[in-house]
Amino acid sequence: MKIINARLRHKDQLYTIICENGYFTEVRIQTDVISDECDIDAQQQLLCAPFIEPHIHLDAVLTAGEPRWNKSGTLFEGIECWAERKQMLSESDVQSRVLKAAELLISNGVQHIRTHIDVTDPNLTALKAIAPLKEKLLPYLDLQIVAFPQEGIFSFPKGKQLMEQALEIGADVVGGIPHFEFTREYGVDSMRWVVELAQKHNKLVDVHCDEIDDGNSRFLEVLATAALESGMTSKVTASHTVAMHSYNNAYCSKLFRLLKMSGINFVSCPTENTHLQGRFDNFPKSRGITRVKELRNAGINVALAQDSIQDPWYSLGNGKLLRQVDFALHACHMMGYDDFKVALDFITDNGAKVMNISDSYGIEVGKPANFIVLNGKDDVEVIREQSDVIWSVRKGEVLIERKPSVITQCPKLCL
Ligand code: FE2
Repeated sequence: MKIINARLRHKDQLYTIICENGYFTEVRIQTDVISDECDIDAQQQLLCAPFIEPHIHLDAVLTAGEPRWNKSGTLFEGIECWAERKQMLSESDVQSRVLKAAELLISNGVQHIRTHIDVTDPNLTALKAIAPLKEKLLPYLDLQIVAFPQEGIFSFPKGKQLMEQALEIGADVVGGIPHFEFTREYGVDSMRWVVELAQKHNKLVDVHCDEIDDGNSRFLEVLATAALESGMTSKVTASHTVAMHSYNNAYCSKLFRLLKMSGINFVSCPTENTHLQGRFDNFPKSRGITRVKELRNAGINVALAQDSIQDPWYSLGNGKLLRQVDFALHACHMMGYDDFKVALDFITDNGAKVMNISDSYGIEVGKPANFIVLNGKDDVEVIREQSDVIWSVRKGEVLIERKPSVITQCPKLCL
């Protein structure tokens, strides 16, 4: 495959790119715009590595309103609705919804997904339905599965056994939910247990950590310490961490030293948490997003994710990660030009670090020929225009091709 007239992120020149046998074999600078024979003429638009969705709950997608709507809008009513919907799961129900959501994500340039799957189900129905899809979806995307204990590990009957069983069935990542455990002690113990389990089975860790508007929810320090002392460091991710929004600055200052030392990653889900958090506030209402800008400025890896597509926690969602970036830039006060220039990091390179796939991710000779072409010249234009993905290519094969929308009528206004 030959691609011409491509712009790469943070480069001034245009590039010709050659892919052979599914890998990049040449990335060379052009001196000018060319009109050679090719498979893709990028027409001076941005070519970058595929988008990454590092935190979504595919088992729950497309279930909003089933069997009832979450009327309070709280995280906890969402968990109650889901506990009812969970009784209705079957293999075909789960697989058909997951495949529909996967199509939506693929059509928006996503090729790498980390999904949390609820394993607080004695039958593990969703996990058993989704695990075989990893292989089926491989031509289109890489799927990492997190064993996610939605109703707790120490607080759910046979919670530990279900987690271990989930790893045997095919989960790649060990999850946790310390703020939802019955007691603080259970929460602390669960964090140490999660890291030990991951080490024992050579798995990654991704914890729903402190997803609550309680400034006293401080399991992040326990997780980061376990990551540091076990040596798991960047194999550990803390998702959500919205309580950090409510921590006082003196505590945060001390905490950030540990976070930097630990090397752990963060995932923030800005639309989801702005919707779910602040529900117990009068005014002012907290935004409920972790300190994305401050973490990034401290050199800590932060990726952005959607969390939900039309489920009991969030009834919108459309598979478009650029929407998350746009939202986070506004809500986290990252509206400076320097913020815009690197904004795509949040849904590309930073997500790759979360998923521990950086070695095989990016536009470099020798790496798999996975890329997208966007309808914009750089991060700034793509974010501003919320650009469409025009091409998505995986292992040198075209997954999607889209024609940019064309206006057929518009008034001409001039002085
Ligand atoms: Fe989540």
